[in-house]
Amino acid sequence: MNRREFLKLGGMGALTVFLSGCGLSSLMGGETTKATVPEQGSISGGKAMNIVVINSSPHADSDSTSKYISQAFVEGAQGAGHDVFVFDAAKADTHPCAGCDACHMDGPCIYTDDIENTLMPKMLDADLLVLVTPLYYWTMSAQLKTIVDRFYSRTGKLHHKKSMLIATCYDSGSHAMDVLTATYKRLCEYMEWTDVGMVLGTGCGARSLVERSQFPEQARQIGAHL
Ligand SMILES: Cc1cc2nc3c(=O)[nH]c(=O)nc-3n(C[C@H](O)[C@H](O)[C@H](O)COP(=O)(O)O)c2cc1C
Repeated sequence: MNRREFLKLGGMGALTVFLSGCGLSSLMGGETTKATVPEQGSISGGKAMNIVVINSSPHADSDSTSKYISQAFVEGAQGAGHDVFVFDAAKADTHPCAGCDACHMDGPCIYTDDIENTLMPKMLDADLLVLVTPLYYWTMSAQLKTIVDRFYSRTGKLHHKKSMLIATCYDSGSHAMDVLTATYKRLCEYMEWTDVGMVLGTGCGARSLVERSQFPEQARQIGAHL
């Protein structure tokens, strides 16, 4: 289903909400959440960090709004000397957690897919995990949730990391990301992660909108100041 069809099926109520995010509000300086840029070096202590960015949009790199923001973050972080590994959850070979508990929350997973073979070793070694998602029905994409559920196989070993959230959506209302951010904050508590920032790209339902928004620069600055 493309975005136009999503809007059509949403009916007039949803159409009004999403169109308000699609243009008018963002052009008129509609409500947005400004991410806090950390003090230079306060997150990394001045050392090079291992950073894993997990993109989850099924859109092409050239069309995706969330990947546009995450790329700005990557450029900022790499420019500051950090090592960044980018995983594309939408293109990778992934399986949802089977709930079999063969891992006993301590690995390995029964699946030998890209999560187990490629992403998990990088995550275990990472200082900072960056979760990137388009807002899908007010929460994270299924592509990202698939990754999150697979944390189960190494829950304890993934504790005590730093984390960041990058998200985009059509809606420009201040509550658009409430469910997503509540989930993310709860995840941080459970995983004992320290949140280093949330870039919430409201009113960014199309590439042209995100490109002229403040959000890519917010993400770049966070990356550059870690
Ligand atoms: C399945 C689906 C569900 C969506 N749900 C929402 C939603 O709940 N709220 C919203 O504001 N936008 C919603 N959108 C719009 C996307 O969040 C928006 O187009 C976003 O910019 C896409 O990011 P991407 O290009 O990185 O994939 C939805 C889009 C799709 C395809």
